[in-house]
Amino acid sequence: MKVCGTATEIQHELASLDKERIALVPTMGCLHEGHISLIEKAKRLADVVVVSIYVNPLQFGKNEDLSIYPRPFADDIKTCQNAGVDFVFHPESLYPDHGIQVGLQVHGLSQKLCGISRKGHFDGVVTVVNILFNIIRPHLAVFGEKDFQQLRIIQRMVADLHMQVEVVGANIVRDDDGLAKSSRNRYLSDDERQQAKEIYAALQLMKRQANQCSSIQEFLALGYKHLHQHRIEVEYLEICDEVTLEPITNIRIFSTARIFIAAKVGSTRLIDNLSLSNHEE
Ligand code: PAF
Repeated sequence: MKVCGTATEIQHELASLDKERIALVPTMGCLHEGHISLIEKAKRLADVVVVSIYVNPLQFGKNEDLSIYPRPFADDIKTCQNAGVDFVFHPESLYPDHGIQVGLQVHGLSQKLCGISRKGHFDGVVTVVNILFNIIRPHLAVFGEKDFQQLRIIQRMVADLHMQVEVVGANIVRDDDGLAKSSRNRYLSDDERQQAKEIYAALQLMKRQANQCSSIQEFLALGYKHLHQHRIEVEYLEICDEVTLEPITNIRIFSTARIFIAAKVGSTRLIDNLSLSNHEE
């Protein structure tokens, strides 16, 4: 495995490859089993796997956790090595010293769910992902479904801008009690960790009881009740179409629906989602 610190270096390495299919797994480091499953998927679909590790300042809001975001680089390198990654791209910065002057913007798809409280977040994400695609020029890139809105936005970016890369989603990886793996889980105290598992419990409860609800309001109330009982502060709990991310208004049309949640446990903001179609999860 080779670790490259600059765009020129990784481009030089990749230029010497022949006709191999290259997969990119973009990350902000602090790698966990969720990332390993992305790497494994990338390995199944391509010949060469590049993992990028870059905590992208452009996608953090003023009051978010950029300065304390965990950066366990030595552990991440070991994880990549054990997972059979070919190249790690770990640039110090991806932007000019005096700031970027041209970036991308997301419209409709960013004005809902996480985009409401995280203004500019998805603009920062698509801008950095576009830069990474331009540097690595991968045939495909793998993103986790935990950040489902991000996945849809990146798929839409690739379609709208006619980019030559296949964007592949990978299932959420969960702890045994259901909590979705996330780099931010390490902020949770032991008590908060116990509370946090109730997020997935609420989603499962809703899915199990969906047939017994006569309205979307009743359906959402089930989730809210469970979360409030466990003192979880809900930022949003919505049921949306998986493609458009528009709210579903008819309780009987669940074939392409997904429940989306963002909630605070202590001061840690967590997100999760669950498909309501019968064949999944
Ligand atoms: O999902 C993430 O870790 C980040 O948003 C990404 C896609 C690596 C862009 O910085």
